Amino acid sequence: MDLRLPQDLPLRNQKVFLRCDFNVPLKDGCIQDPSRIHAVLPTIDYLIQHECSIILASHLGRPKSKFDSELSLKPIEIYLKSKGYDVQLDDFHDRNATRIKSQKLLKGQILLLENVRFYEGETKNDQFLGQFYASMAPFFINDAFGAAHRAHASVVSTLKYYEPNNIAAGFLMDKEIKGLNQILQPKKPLICIFGGSKIADKISLIKHFINRADHILIGGAMAYAFLKAQNISIGLSLIHEGSMEQAQEIINLIKSSSTQLHLPIDHIISPPEGSEVLASITDDVQIPTNQKALDIGPETIASYSEEIQKASTILWNGPMGWFEEPTYATGTLAIAEQIAERCQAGAYAVVGGGDSLAAINLAGVAGNISHMSTGGGASLEFLSGVKLPGLVNLIKA
Ligand code: 3PG
Repeated sequence: MDLRLPQDLPLRNQKVFLRCDFNVPLKDGCIQDPSRIHAVLPTIDYLIQHECSIILASHLGRPKSKFDSELSLKPIEIYLKSKGYDVQLDDFHDRNATRIKSQKLLKGQILLLENVRFYEGETKNDQFLGQFYASMAPFFINDAFGAAHRAHASVVSTLKYYEPNNIAAGFLMDKEIKGLNQILQPKKPLICIFGGSKIADKISLIKHFINRADHILIGGAMAYAFLKAQNISIGLSLIHEGSMEQAQEIINLIKSSSTQLHLPIDHIISPPEGSEVLASITDDVQIPTNQKALDIGPETIASYSEEIQKASTILWNGPMGWFEEPTYATGTLAIAEQIAERCQAGAYAVVGGGDSLAAINLAGVAGNISHMSTGGGASLEFLSGVKLPGLVNLIKA
């Protein structure tokens, strides 16, 4: 998939509407992890070096189509200012006034539109809103990989108001697509490691890799649904409604495939309610009836590590346990370290999903991972084989 890129457009001294994904975690108005902002700076810097002025747009969270001070892009404006960018936030309440402001922008200046989801038309892919965005600039660059699966006004409806040759992907979008494509056309053996709590969130992804991956390794709370489907005791471990049936469906599909399924063979379990004892390791795959599992055990870590060390390509999405709690973080951190080690030996690995990325950072191995995807739902859908609406017009003819 060859995307049109900023260097394919005659951008010097032009106005550009740039869609980014600044959907960053916030706490009390402070940005907790600015990775998504840093990831688009190469595109912003390229435009500034080419003397462009930028109308910058993003969503943040899921506001209910009205102003919500907790989801304002004010912290993004402050952050960009602190990095030396000449940026001004605009609520585009009065669209004419905003348009005039955009016309007056000087080279290198950025007009940051307020959270696009404050306006109802955004998530409805409204044409008028799309037209308004396009009325401010003749060029459109989409660097919001994380929103590429959303048919929203600043991603899709705006496209038809630009000359087709004036539309391009940003550098992050390109990096994401190239990174994820290496998983879809992998050097074998390909190993997929899926964790987290809900099978429902990942069922399409898991199914897509049956017959594509050589091994699928399951961890996290979703593993207990797979075990229960095979009549293994999971004690008080939590599983979501309907997840056992989904697990059974996957087990059946894998049986007649070339993929091998791996499930935990031991667990770290929490102490029984009210008891003084510490978390412990199960003797085998069974979880005692009065206890719940919260991490994979040492035997599982050893067997998963063995598989990882044989892989040429690795996809990891979802933690192996309750890793936010140090007692139950060993499995997830071990997987992060094993993947990093394998990358150093030449394998290619993509890590996606907020929790897995946090675990990679916690393990301090981010520098060794081939590609850390900034997209949540967008990566899952892309890797599941879904055609993302935000990508269609960015592909070179
Ligand atoms: C994400 O965090 O995955 C993207 O920013 C998309 O957010 P959304 O799921 O609210 O559309």
